[in-house]
Amino acid sequence: MADEETASRRLAFQKSYSIEHGGTWRRRSLIEDAKFDTLANNEIEREHKGSVDGVYPEVPKEDDEVFKTANGDVHIVPETKRCSVVLSVRDTAGMSRLFKNFENYRIIIQHIESRKAKKGSSLDFFIAFEGIRDDVSNLMKVLKQNSVVNDIRVLTEEDVTEKVPWFPRHISDLDRCQHLLTKFDPELDYDHPGFADKEYRKRRSMITQIAFDHRHGQPIPRIEYTIEEIKCWGHVYSNLWKLYNTHACREHIRNFRILERECGYSEHNIPQLEDISNFLKRRTGFQLRPVAGLLSARDFLASLAFRVFQCTQYLRHPSKPDHTVEPDCVHELLGHVPMLADPEFAQFSQEIGLASLGASDADIEKFATIYWFTVEFGLCKQDGQLKAYGAGLLSAYGELAYALSDKPEKLPFDPIKTAIQMYDDQNYQTTYFVAESFNDVKEKVRQYAKNIKRPFEVRYDPYTQTVQILDNDEALKDISRVVRGEINSLCDVIRRIEHVSTR
Ligand SMILES: [Fe+2]
Repeated sequence: MADEETASRRLAFQKSYSIEHGGTWRRRSLIEDAKFDTLANNEIEREHKGSVDGVYPEVPKEDDEVFKTANGDVHIVPETKRCSVVLSVRDTAGMSRLFKNFENYRIIIQHIESRKAKKGSSLDFFIAFEGIRDDVSNLMKVLKQNSVVNDIRVLTEEDVTEKVPWFPRHISDLDRCQHLLTKFDPELDYDHPGFADKEYRKRRSMITQIAFDHRHGQPIPRIEYTIEEIKCWGHVYSNLWKLYNTHACREHIRNFRILERECGYSEHNIPQLEDISNFLKRRTGFQLRPVAGLLSARDFLASLAFRVFQCTQYLRHPSKPDHTVEPDCVHELLGHVPMLADPEFAQFSQEIGLASLGASDADIEKFATIYWFTVEFGLCKQDGQLKAYGAGLLSAYGELAYALSDKPEKLPFDPIKTAIQMYDDQNYQTTYFVAESFNDVKEKVRQYAKNIKRPFEVRYDPYTQTVQILDNDEALKDISRVVRGEINSLCDVIRRIEHVSTR
């Protein structure tokens, strides 16, 4: 029951957060996405603590589960300040202008409460907030000078020393990596084609509930797709097939054919997530878990570290079969799944996930941008021709044809430049990045990841499905034992092959 309450509070917070933080330019929203987990966890924790009537609540603390190294907490760069104040106002007439100051100085309000003042002032506000140190100082000056303010009393004031954000250590921890960004949610977004369609929203809500209820280790429930949903899927499927032979990379084409043979892929059938997940486990060790919508970048990338792909199960609105700005199972199954069935691509996907664990918000933003221009919209060279390997292209025939035409700009893939490229998540891209091969992308991203601010390395242990932290001598000895074993196996194979060839 407590879990259910927590889940529903989390959902409510997720939705309110998304309404407030909706944006059009993907890059802008990514910065907010990256901060989402911390905000959400703080909010849930605070709700658990509650507050006593007439007593101001405790100022939110860092998550207790913040990662600690063997040497203690990890410190990055202290540059922000967290304060809690009691703001007494004479009257409420100028309140909107007063609070506009917080927005002007980019201050994040973490908690606010009001109560009737005991004497004099009409209202007392308890406000806990955080911002860049200079901005906080300037805000305080402005508040003190405001004619509405009777008094401002600082309760606490502290420099924020950033710690490494929490990240999942075991695959079952992904049950906690479900922070949704509902900016394209049909329940909340007026521009969503399903916003006015009650039946669609009901259907969608039924399917997304499966994802909310799902826990690690459980089979993914099957969906009986309607005739209309299969028609929508078939429309996209048949149109894409006309382009795949000329536009898709060879790995996608090869795996797509296998999926048709082994997983029920066809124009007339929407395959089931559980079957695909079992197929992927056999091919590359990847598995699917159902997700209710667009995840925060941090959670999505963290899942990849465990070779888990968070996959939607619902379909886009039938009135717009050719385009959707949010993920749906047409996009996931036609675009992502065939690529995840390729061993080299699967390894690249996991490496970008591992690199994201414990990364700062700024680095998550960069990784998410690299992910966008590779896994979602990447192009590569094959046999002297440009081919698409990005799932966003391989699931949208309009953009697939456009991306390989002469119209958009095409640049060589360079993670340093790619990571800061602006992009749009609602229209075709104006720029695409071209890799020499998957290995080229993997190696470049691997080099790039070495420069991120993180005082440890991580390694995935597939036997225990655990992320190991490599930050001390013992960890180094453990990994060297594993590597030594693998090198011995490699040497044995080479010797055997040489022996056979010289006979
Ligand atoms: Fe995607």
